[in-house]
Amino acid sequence: MDITMKRSQYSQDALIEVLHKAQEAFGYLEEDVLIYVARQLKLPLSQVYGVATFYHLFSLKPSGAHTCVVCLGTACYVKGSGEVLAALEEKTGIKSGETTPDGQISIVTARCIGACGIAPAAVFDGKVAGQQTPEMAVARLEQWQGSAE
Ligand code: FES
Repeated sequence: MDITMKRSQYSQDALIEVLHKAQEAFGYLEEDVLIYVARQLKLPLSQVYGVATFYHLFSLKPSGAHTCVVCLGTACYVKGSGEVLAALEEKTGIKSGETTPDGQISIVTARCIGACGIAPAAVFDGKVAGQQTPEMAVARLEQWQGSAE
């Protein structure tokens, strides 16, 4: 991973290649790895999360067909992301870090995805969404569940 970043001179265009290498090395992408890559390439973490969750060749741990990342960083937390997460967990019956038994939905949490200005923020299948309420987030999941049927 480091070699790939160095070879590309820390160019931000190398993001996909770097994530690819990271996944090859670790089998999946963990939050710490994403934070590291974002820092090295000087990219907002939200963008790295976006790419990692958008392309199906990458798997965050865990990886359902759809991935929802809820930011629990301070800015988001004080604006209610805890409730957003709780609503999603209740809706799906799984906890953060898990995938629904049908493999459809994974819920992941992050410490700050660099989108504090639109807190509380979440990433739904690669798309950063701001000002989330529990209702909005649950509606998003229902769309996914609807499309799976
Ligand atoms: S704390 Fe959530 S984006 Fe920064």
